[in-house]
Amino acid sequence: MAFRREHAGSTARAHADATIVLARERLASLPRRRLHGGRNFTKAVVDLVEIDGRTIILKDIASRPWPVRLLLGPWQLDREGRAYRALAGVRGTPAFVARIDRQAIALEYVPGRSLASYRRGELKADFFDRLDRLLDDIHARGVAHGDLHRHDVLAGPGGEPYLVDFSTSMVAPHGAGALARFLFRQMCRADRRSAAKLRQRFLPGSRAPVPERSGLYRVGGWARRIADRFRRSR
Ligand SMILES: Nc1ncnc2c1ncn2[C@@H]1O[C@H](COP(=O)(O)OP(=O)(O)OP(=O)(O)O)[C@@H](O)[C@H]1O
Ligand SMILES: [Mg+2]
Repeated sequence: MAFRREHAGSTARAHADATIVLARERLASLPRRRLHGGRNFTKAVVDLVEIDGRTIILKDIASRPWPVRLLLGPWQLDREGRAYRALAGVRGTPAFVARIDRQAIALEYVPGRSLASYRRGELKADFFDRLDRLLDDIHARGVAHGDLHRHDVLAGPGGEPYLVDFSTSMVAPHGAGALARFLFRQMCRADRRSAAKLRQRFLPGSRAPVPERSGLYRVGGWARRIADRFRRSR
C-alpha cells in the first residue's frame, strides 16, 4: 500500500514531496525500537521506526487480543486519526503520517521528553503559557484532547510543548449539534483544568487558578470513587 503524508509538521515538512511506500510487510523489515509497551492489553504498543532515513512513530494494536484488535483498537485509532487530520499544520502537534491498516497508525516523531520525566521546578512559566496557547489553537480547530496528563505533553524541539495521544479526543465539526457542542465545551474545560494542574505541579509557588472540574467529569470522578470504595470493601 502506498501512502502520502497527510499533513506536514516541522520535521515532516522537510520531506513534504516524498511519497513513502509502506505496508505492514515492509514495516516488519525496518529498524524498530520499542518506545512504550502499552499500559495494559487494551493499549497500542508504540514503536519508533526508521524509514528512508527518518523516524516515525507507529501505534500498533496488531498484537493485542481479538476484541481489542478488531473492535476497541480500530475505534480508538479512527478517533486519533480524525483528530490529527483536523489538527493539520497546528504547531505543537505531530503530523499524521498514515493509517497503515485497521490496526496501526503512523505519526511524525517528536524528539523530546514527556513531562513525566521532569522534576518540579525544571520547567519555566513560559512553557505553561505556551501550553495554554496550544490548547486555544487545538480547541479553535474543533479538537478537545479529553484526557490530558503528563505523559501526553512533550517538551519538544526548542522546549516547545507538544501534545500526543488523541485516542480519547473529540472533534466537533462546524455545525455540530447542541449535544456535541455541549460535550466539546466540557472536554475543552477539562483540558484547561489539566493544563492548570500541570502548571501547579511543576511550577513551585504557582498561584494560577485551577478551573472547577466540569459537570460530566465530576460524574466520572464520583463513579470512579464509588468503584474504588466497592473494590476496597471486598
Ligand atoms: N508522536 C510522538 N512523538 C514522540 N513520542 C511520542 C509520540 N506519540 C507518543 N509518544 C510517546 O509514547 C507514549 C505513549 O503514546 P500514547 O500516549 O499515544 O499511547 P497510549 O497507548 O495512549 O498510552 P497511554 O494510555 O499509556 O497514554 C507517550 O506518552 C509519549 O511519551
Ligand atoms: Mg498517552
